[in-house]
Amino acid sequence: MLLIKNIMTLLQVRDDSPQYVAGPAMKTLPSIDHAFLLVDEGKIVDYGEMENCPKISNAEQIDATGKIVLPSWCDSHTHIVYAGNREGEFVDRINGMTYQEIAENGGGILNSAKKLQATSIEDLYDQSKKRLEEVILMGTGAVEIKSGYGLTKDAELKMLRVIKMLKENYDIPIKATFLGAHAIPQEFKGNKLGYLAMLIEEILPVIAEESLAEYIDIFCEKGYFTVEDTELIMEAGKRFGLTPKIHVNQFTSIGGVGAGVKHSALSVDHLEVMTDEDISALEGSDTMPVALPSCSFFLSIPYTPARKMIDRGLALALATDYNPGSTPSGNMNFVVSTACIKMKMTPEEAINAATINGAYAMGLENEVGSITIGKRANFIITEKVNSLGFLPYSFGKNHIDSVYLNGKKQVF
Ligand code: NIG
Ligand code: FE
Repeated sequence: MLLIKNIMTLLQVRDDSPQYVAGPAMKTLPSIDHAFLLVDEGKIVDYGEMENCPKISNAEQIDATGKIVLPSWCDSHTHIVYAGNREGEFVDRINGMTYQEIAENGGGILNSAKKLQATSIEDLYDQSKKRLEEVILMGTGAVEIKSGYGLTKDAELKMLRVIKMLKENYDIPIKATFLGAHAIPQEFKGNKLGYLAMLIEEILPVIAEESLAEYIDIFCEKGYFTVEDTELIMEAGKRFGLTPKIHVNQFTSIGGVGAGVKHSALSVDHLEVMTDEDISALEGSDTMPVALPSCSFFLSIPYTPARKMIDRGLALALATDYNPGSTPSGNMNFVVSTACIKMKMTPEEAINAATINGAYAMGLENEVGSITIGKRANFIITEKVNSLGFLPYSFGKNHIDSVYLNGKKQVF
């Protein structure tokens, strides 16, 4: 047993956890001041005000005077399994090339695919586990990881097998997404439908057979895949038991959001460019919009219009998009700060978006995302801070004292 005592503020306390919070409800972050939290066998078993703290002699005790305890970040969109880096392209962009121009010249996703194809599964695992450990220590306590830098049958399966190995070896819950339709590889240039057919006929059956993924994704964007391609992939995924979670509206709005909603996508992600029609398509649906502000920051592209979306009653989740091209950072603390600074979300809204709504965007809302009895004891203890607003305010500093997964302190 583990008992955390004298917590200055216990955040995101939900006796009866909703699946997600939307619209005006995002402004409320239920909390208890001067609180305790009790953990047993990896789960939250009790919490409340200190005056009701049970007297337990056989529990390990931690004093959290002056500190905040909150559920771990739920990062519902990452690509942390990749090989090598792309800082050369970063410099090319500084010198004036655009992200799209780099991709059109064989850089971008194809550059990462070339590196990954030449990397052994052991090496890929070693590179990826470092990033997983890094994000855990920054407070992430549930994560989704995509394939999509393989672009051949062997390399896509290699990525998914690495994700499976990570699932087996770490306490953090991980969801895997098949993103074979991330870009059209050189070998299929001019034959996009041939590539999609290969994904559907040759890779999806193996994924289903070996239970290698829960979700299916596609990059729905001008120059990549059309709305028609997106519908084809979402339907194929569903036939193999995979739920859609898609990349849409990063640079242009071409109707992918509506298509995602129509096909009951669990989430639609990026959304830097949103028309009124896209917002209307999400109204009344259970598809979670996911914003990736670190990507906007790194590429200097617009931020998802969070204010407009939440004020129209929508839910919103926040995730990192950690990947070598558009977001070489997996820091959810920075994401929360950036959402407040650049997207005008309040700290309460941003923390709801980065916990309970992120959990929903990867089907983990019954396991993580709030301080609720029966959920996993995945939480962050902050350093001594003044208030919750201090966390996003002092951007660039994480203020993390320690992180726990299944009630175990994480050290690497
Ligand atoms: O989510 N937009 C598509 N895919 C990734 C980045 C791909 C890359 O540049 O490597 C993203 O931003
Ligand atoms: Fe992404």
